[in-house]
Amino acid sequence: MKDTELGHTGELISSIGLGTMYLGTKVDEKTSFDIIDYYIGTGGRLLDSANKYASWIPGFNGGESESLIGRWLKKRGNRQGIFIISKVGFPYRAIPRSLKKEIIISECEKSLKRLDVETIDLYFAHAYDTETPIEETMDAFQNLKKQGKIRFAGASNFYAWQLLEANNSANIQGWEGFSCLQQRHTYLEPTLHADFGSQLLLTPEIQDFCIKQKICIMAYSPLLGGFYGKYNHAIPGYYKSMVNDLKLEKLRDIADSLNIHANAVVLAWMLQRSPQIIPIVGGSTVAQMRENFQVLSVRLTEKQIEYLNVNIVNTDS
Ligand SMILES: NC(=O)c1ccc[n+]([C@@H]2O[C@H](COP(=O)([O-])OP(=O)(O)OC[C@H]3O[C@@H](n4cnc5c(N)ncnc54)[C@H](OP(=O)(O)O)[C@@H]3O)[C@@H](O)[C@H]2O)c1
Repeated sequence: MKDTELGHTGELISSIGLGTMYLGTKVDEKTSFDIIDYYIGTGGRLLDSANKYASWIPGFNGGESESLIGRWLKKRGNRQGIFIISKVGFPYRAIPRSLKKEIIISECEKSLKRLDVETIDLYFAHAYDTETPIEETMDAFQNLKKQGKIRFAGASNFYAWQLLEANNSANIQGWEGFSCLQQRHTYLEPTLHADFGSQLLLTPEIQDFCIKQKICIMAYSPLLGGFYGKYNHAIPGYYKSMVNDLKLEKLRDIADSLNIHANAVVLAWMLQRSPQIIPIVGGSTVAQMRENFQVLSVRLTEKQIEYLNVNIVNTDS
C-alpha cells in the first residue's frame, strides 16, 4: 500500500485506513485481531478509532475499540509501526457532546489508558461544539501536543467556516491547528436535502478549502454499509436518484469487467481522485476485507474514471 501526506505536516500515512468502530463489540476479539492482521499484511498501518466506539451496541459502554487495539498492539509488540487515530467530542454514556478543554483532556487520558500507549498519533475533534469558544478547544489540543500525548490534530464533521475559524484561532497563536478533515463520503451522491444528523458530508466547498489549506481529507462510510456489493438491495433512502441509478450501473459494469468487487472499484475511484482522499474502510469479516482490498491490485484507466464520473448535466438533458 502506498503512503500519502498528512496535509502540510510532512508526515506520511497509509493511503487507506482501517475503521475499527465495531472491533471488540459487534465483531468478536478473534475476528477483530484477524481483521487488523489482514490489514497490516496489506501494508496498511492507520487504525481509526474513537472514545465512544461502540457505546451504542447493547451491552457495551464505549472504549471497546480502543481497548481492543491496545490488546492487539501489546500482543503484536508493534506500536512503533502503527499510526493511531482517536476522537473526542461526541456524547456517550455520561460524557456530553463537548469540545471543552476539561473534556478533551480527560477523554484523551482515558483513550491513552485504553489504548495502552503514550501518544495518539492523530486526535480528532469528532464534531464542532457550538457552546465552547474555539480558542478553548484549540488550546486544549495544543496542550496535549506540548505534553506529547498527541502528535497531530484533526477535525471531523465540521463545516468549512468552522474549520477556518479553528485554524485561524490556532495560527494566530503560532500553532498548527487541524491538519486533517474526516467527513462522510462515498461514490453515490446524497440527494440535495439529505440529512445525516451530526454526520457532515464532504461537500465541494469544504473540499476546495482543504486543497487550498493543504489539509488532508479522509472519508468515512465509503462503502455505504456494504451496499455496493448487494446487487438485489434498493439504493438507501437519501441516495435515491436517477443520477445514482446510472452511477450504480456504471460502477457495477466496471466491477464486472474487471472481475472485482464493487467496493474495490469505489475505493479505487476515491484513491485516484485529485485531491486524493483516504478512505477509512470497515469490515466485519476477513472475507469482506479481502474483497475490499482487491483495490490494491487495481489501477483504473482515465476512461474508466470518466465513465464513473457521470456528468449530471449531460445525463439529464
Ligand atoms: N468521523 C466520524 O464521524 C465517523 C463516522 C462513522 C464511521 N467512522 C469511521 O469510519 C469507519 C468506516 O465506517 P462505516 O462502518 O460507516 O463504513 P462503511 O464503509 O459504510 O461500511 C462498512 C460496513 O460495510 C459492510 N461491508 C464492508 N465490506 C463489505 C463487503 N465486502 N461485503 C459486504 N459488506 C461489506 C460491513 O457491514 P456488516 O457488518 O453489516 O457486514 C462493514 O462493517 C468506521 O469504522 C470508523 O472508524 C467515522
